[in-house]
Amino acid sequence: TDIEKGTYPHFMLKEIDEQPFVMRNIITKYKDDNDNIKLEEPIRQAVTDADRIYIIAAGTSYHSGLVGKELIEKIAQIPVETHIASEFLYNMPLLSKKPLFIFISQSGETADLRGVLVNVKKLGHTSLTITNVPGSTLSREADYTLHTYGGPEIAVASTKAYTAQMAVMAILAVDAARAGGVEIDFDPLQELGIVANAMEIFTNKKEELEEVARNYLSVSRNCFFIGRSMDYYVCLEGALKLKEISYIQAEGFAGGELKHGTIALIEEGTPVIGLATQKDVNLNIRGNMKEVVARGANPCFISMEGCEHEEDKIVMPAVHEYLTPLVSVLPMQLISYYAALHRGCDVDKPRNLAKSVTVE
Ligand code: G6P
Repeated sequence: TDIEKGTYPHFMLKEIDEQPFVMRNIITKYKDDNDNIKLEEPIRQAVTDADRIYIIAAGTSYHSGLVGKELIEKIAQIPVETHIASEFLYNMPLLSKKPLFIFISQSGETADLRGVLVNVKKLGHTSLTITNVPGSTLSREADYTLHTYGGPEIAVASTKAYTAQMAVMAILAVDAARAGGVEIDFDPLQELGIVANAMEIFTNKKEELEEVARNYLSVSRNCFFIGRSMDYYVCLEGALKLKEISYIQAEGFAGGELKHGTIALIEEGTPVIGLATQKDVNLNIRGNMKEVVARGANPCFISMEGCEHEEDKIVMPAVHEYLTPLVSVLPMQLISYYAALHRGCDVDKPRNLAKSVTVE
């Protein structure tokens, strides 16, 4: 490959560190001369015309799609469903009258998504691909494309593409809100700049995360990630990252759902990573952690200013409540990276995985 690691030992670490630059790049690309959002009129039209949006994706992109649903619904007030591509392909739900399909794909080549795109095109529906590779199959075959401007992502485990996808969806949501006459007090271009700065602290906080990985994950065979609302979606991604590169069995869980079964798995010393960035459910997730600690769990809270408690291992600088996943995933990415490293795993090329899966 022409892309070099430079001084980095792995592409994954380089790509984690590139995330603040990617954010600033997205801000520049989506800003016009008057500091307004720059988006093609037909894309704006397609979103505001829709009575419901169907986000279709796989893997890490599916997890960004879950956050995308929250963003578009909360900001633009358009109903959204996020679906796993391979499920949607053979088990299509009842569609609304004027659906818009959004395909989220780093590579733009994932076969499961392409299958859905072919089917919905036959039905005459409008489609938009959000991808890191314009000119890719999904980009060429959909009606419209939005570029995530992440630059080439080489490590199999996706990092910067995930945060870039969510940034672009936040911009899309605000543009749609304004076009649809929904009043909102949220400037994504400005707030993404604050996100970029917050991301940057992790360039200097690596030792702390390496220590978390060493203390919690060097010998454990499993790990739980718990969070509520937006944090829950980031927990799903955190668990996927850990599984992909360290082979530790991990599960992302909605804090309140643990007690309905999964808590049976908690034993003496089981690592449980809690995420607390959402003020309205902060006390709830703290309560959920107490429940697992009472069963012997080894707790590790990662929180955000405004939600922090004394015992928290990592406290991130505050960012807008819509954009917390873009920052809180960084400690998850780094913990997974160091866990894999400590366990001697091939970080950039994990076993059994491919960067893009072009077969069904
Ligand atoms: C593969 C990769 C994952 C990725 C998924 C979707 O399984 O290993 O990291 O999230 O495909 O890829 P896409 O390119 O469509 O985002």
